[in-house]
Amino acid sequence: MFFCTATFLLLVSAQSLLLTEAGKCPRVCSCDGTKLTVSCIGKNLTAVPPSIDEITVKLDLRNNNLQVLPRGAFIHTPYLTHLNLQRCNIAKVKEGAFRTLGRVVSLNLAYNKIDILYQESFDGLSSLKELHLDYNRIEEVQPGAFTQLGFLNMLALTYNQLVYIPNMAFQGLQNIKWLRLSHNSLNNLAPEAFAGLFTLGRLSLDHNELQLSAVTRLDMSYNPMTYLGEESVSMPKLTHLYLDHMSLQDLSDQALSHAPLLSHLDLSHNQLRYLEPLTGPKELKSLNLTGNPIYCNCYLRPLRQWVSAGGLKLMGACAGPPHLSDEPLQSVTPLDLRCRSREEALTEPSEEDSESTGGAVTTAKPKQKVKCPDKCDCDIEAQHATCEGQGHTKIPRGFPAKTQLLDLRSNHFHYLPAKMFPGLSQVVSLHLELCKIHEIERGAFQGMKQLFYLYLSDNDLTSLDPAAFAGLPELTYLHLEGNRLTQLPGAALAPLSNLFVLHLERNVISKLEPAGLTSSVTPKLRELYLTNNTLTAVTKGALDFAFLGILHLDSNQLTEVPTQALSDVPNLEELNLSHNLIRLVEPRAFQPVSQQLKRLYMEHAGMEKMSREALVGLGAELRALSVRGNRLQVLPDLSPLSGLEVIDLQDNPLLCDCALLPLYRSVQGYNDIKVFKLLSSKQLEIHSLQVTINT
Ligand SMILES: *[C@@H]1O[C@H](CO)[C@@H](O)[C@H](O)[C@H]1NC(C)=O
Ligand SMILES: *[C@@H]1O[C@H](CO)[C@@H](O)[C@H](O)[C@H]1NC(C)=O
Ligand SMILES: *[C@@H]1O[C@H](CO)[C@@H](O)[C@H](O)[C@H]1NC(C)=O
Ligand SMILES: *[C@@H]1O[C@H](CO)[C@@H](O)[C@H](O)[C@H]1NC(C)=O
Repeated sequence: MFFCTATFLLLVSAQSLLLTEAGKCPRVCSCDGTKLTVSCIGKNLTAVPPSIDEITVKLDLRNNNLQVLPRGAFIHTPYLTHLNLQRCNIAKVKEGAFRTLGRVVSLNLAYNKIDILYQESFDGLSSLKELHLDYNRIEEVQPGAFTQLGFLNMLALTYNQLVYIPNMAFQGLQNIKWLRLSHNSLNNLAPEAFAGLFTLGRLSLDHNELQLSAVTRLDMSYNPMTYLGEESVSMPKLTHLYLDHMSLQDLSDQALSHAPLLSHLDLSHNQLRYLEPLTGPKELKSLNLTGNPIYCNCYLRPLRQWVSAGGLKLMGACAGPPHLSDEPLQSVTPLDLRCRSREEALTEPSEEDSESTGGAVTTAKPKQKVKCPDKCDCDIEAQHATCEGQGHTKIPRGFPAKTQLLDLRSNHFHYLPAKMFPGLSQVVSLHLELCKIHEIERGAFQGMKQLFYLYLSDNDLTSLDPAAFAGLPELTYLHLEGNRLTQLPGAALAPLSNLFVLHLERNVISKLEPAGLTSSVTPKLRELYLTNNTLTAVTKGALDFAFLGILHLDSNQLTEVPTQALSDVPNLEELNLSHNLIRLVEPRAFQPVSQQLKRLYMEHAGMEKMSREALVGLGAELRALSVRGNRLQVLPDLSPLSGLEVIDLQDNPLLCDCALLPLYRSVQGYNDIKVFKLLSSKQLEIHSLQVTINT
């Protein structure tokens, strides 16, 4: 483990002593007079040998038979900094056992038989930074057991038999960063169990029997969850729940039925079109639906009424229908929330009727025969039409004029001629995935003035006519993944002045070159996905998207970080270069994007070496860094990255020597590292799940 490097740091101060006194060494031990280490491993010792040299800093007593650690057990070795007592058959640590060890920074008591941590078990360890108590039989932690450990950063209590954590159990841990309680039998946490742990960045509670009953705030933002089913959140004390920036498309009205005290619910930036009144939370005060495509029709009425009745603060805006779009949800009245009747939709397909329908909700009219092409299904109420997988070889004609979602996926169109979608100016979302399309004629989508989402994934496109997407002023999301494109279809994108997200994964683009495309053409492009192409190079000028925030170049054949090209995307926040062949990362490789970059992924990227200056320029902005699965022995300087929340170094042959010292130092400086993975930690880590305990 990298913590061993701390030895070198502390050695220096003890060095002067070495010169003044010749070492003595117990018969069964081996001693290194230069490093001031003594190891007596596996000697069946029943007591700490009294003749250990006083100036020893590192004492390794693994695999002995000590059974009881008496008071003052280490009275003869006051300079110890590292003490390893793993597998020593220790059942009892008497009060005051470590009282003379004011310099110890690391104490390992794992794999013993300790069952109780007494109030004064660890007295005297005033410099201790890490304490390993894993794999014991601890059932009880007496209040005050840790009060003297004001410098402790990491406390590991995994694989014990804890059932209950009493109030103030960890009192005194003023610098604790990581508390590991995984693999116990915890089923109850006293309300103040974690009180006072103001510096805690990470709490590992996996593999217990908890209902998370004491948690009052739960932050699950940015997890790619699409659905929350019944009783998903069962937390009796929960008051604040953050489910923002996920991919929720639906939320059961019973999802929070076991969160009765919930007062703040953040559902912003999901994909919710509707939401039903929630059963369970009686005290909800604020509901944030900002950034969801909420459709303000009669289906939203129950929610609106519930919100008014409860005096809730409701945030967000309608995404449609057009006359309500961008209207704040808080200001639409239940009367605004209408559904047109089937009959109206048939007989009055003009643009203006929605303004003149009046306040009536007319959902209960008898079913009428709806205008709809053969082998298709048209739902007037939802304004959806689908002809998925019906063997169509031509785009069907005759959809209701109000259709907003048209699903034509899994047919066999092969070729899309010009003006294929007449009379469909209201379509917002058009699905043409898996249709064996190999050519799109210029102006094929002409007239689709409202088209926002266009799905052309998994077709056979090899190139695109420069005017293929002409007449789509609103197009925002374009899916072209899974085709056979050999180039970034630059010219075809030119008419798309609102393009925000472009998917080009799984094509055969081998080189990104300047396409004469400038930021002024696609000024809003924010996310570009080029995963799983055959890219070998990205030349300067190829990424002329000044506003780009997310760039995925993973699973390609890049042999270097495209530093030059990055200078065109100064606003980049996320860069994925995983699964490439980047042997060496040069100094200042990310300098051009260093101002904004928040997430950098270089997993399994073939890296053998990163220059010490590789990350120069990156600073407190960077939140996540992963270099997992490379062949790195030495890390670049990480010390300026003071804002890191996630760092993943697993699966690298990192050398445990002074080269890791900077990391060791910088990790100590991090106050709020939430996920720290090194080598092959088996911890269950929940990405960006942050549990804040009420204190
Ligand atoms: C270890 O010492 C105990 C008594 O101190 C003895 O009973 C036991 O046989 C010893 N074990 C070995 C492997 O020497
Ligand atoms: C609602 O969500 C938006 C977007 O995430 C956020 O900017 C805003 O602060 C939130 N409002 C409240 C009151 O939480
Ligand atoms: C890349 O695409 C190929 C073919 O579509 C697929 O088999 C492979 O799993 C993809 N790899 C990744 C990393 O997505
Ligand atoms: C980065 O790319 C790798 C390889 O394709 C993928 O497994 C990983 O999920 C990506 N990470 C993010 C955050 O997109």
